[in-house]
Amino acid sequence: MRHNLTLQDISRLSFIFYMQIFYTISKIKKYISEHKNKKISIGFVPTMGALHKGHISLIDRAKAENDICICSIFVNPIQFNNKEDLLNYPRHLENDITQLIAVNCDILFAPSEKEMYPVPDNTIYNLGGLDKFMEGKFRLNHFNGVAVIVKKLFEIVEPNRAYFGAKDFQQLVVIKYLVKKYSIPVEIISCNIVREDDGLALSSRNARLTKEERAIAPFIHQILLKAKEKSRTNSVNEIKNMVSEEINAKPLIKLEYFEIVNKSTLENIEKIDDFSDCIACIAVFVGNIRLIDNINFL
Ligand code: PAJ
Repeated sequence: MRHNLTLQDISRLSFIFYMQIFYTISKIKKYISEHKNKKISIGFVPTMGALHKGHISLIDRAKAENDICICSIFVNPIQFNNKEDLLNYPRHLENDITQLIAVNCDILFAPSEKEMYPVPDNTIYNLGGLDKFMEGKFRLNHFNGVAVIVKKLFEIVEPNRAYFGAKDFQQLVVIKYLVKKYSIPVEIISCNIVREDDGLALSSRNARLTKEERAIAPFIHQILLKAKEKSRTNSVNEIKNMVSEEINAKPLIKLEYFEIVNKSTLENIEKIDDFSDCIACIAVFVGNIRLIDNINFL
């Protein structure tokens, strides 16, 4: 959706659209403490912005299940292991605000880096080893960076429920562990993956694909569907070989990993005994853009 309003215009007018925007921790905390007294339930959707229908599905659910819905937008530098990825991460705050207003989000929290990290936060979280598999192998310290910011945000927003997409399946498992381990009083809600009509999982990074790359990207979902189908008749090794051969035979796509893992422990599954335990997770480069996806085997 295009518009000609500046960020200042929107901030000034946001009360007319019934969405309040907070840029500082002290202001949002004040608002929350006033509302907590009224026993209002808070649904929280943390994001890094460049919002798309996947994010919006989380907002819709948080709105439906709570008295108020708070979305945060913060591109968290410490979860990026690649400087270029951080620099190129899409930032469209005005457009994000327009989308949030359109779905009646109640509050947006959009802090600056200085606000969230006035001093460096070097906390190391125990994530039970869940951060060492798959994404963790290729994105060193990524999940610790996610844990630092999500825990900080939970402490600021004090949500009753927080909504995360199954698109980032490992992140979801890590966050569930984090809140258990550190006794954070919030219910973590898992939301389904939203896809384009051609099967490509929505991602803020899709916007950076060239026309040719975008045309090939739905193959990621297609190969996952094929892996699921093969899981009924073939061994884990056969499925893995099929996926890597077919992906690497395609132009513009390079496989980083494909794993069939236990949904709770994230450990590799050698032999499939129970489909309900299994999830296949994939990371590929399409050109220079790294995309992830997954599929349940049940
Ligand atoms: P971000 O990538 O902006 O994603 C925010 C939330 O939207 C995550 O829970 C993610 O899983 C969900 N999401 C993204 N694409 C989706 C899709 N196609 N369908 C359903 N949900 C989708 O994940 C992060 O930000 C950050 O790591 C964050 C948790 C905000 C911490 O910085």
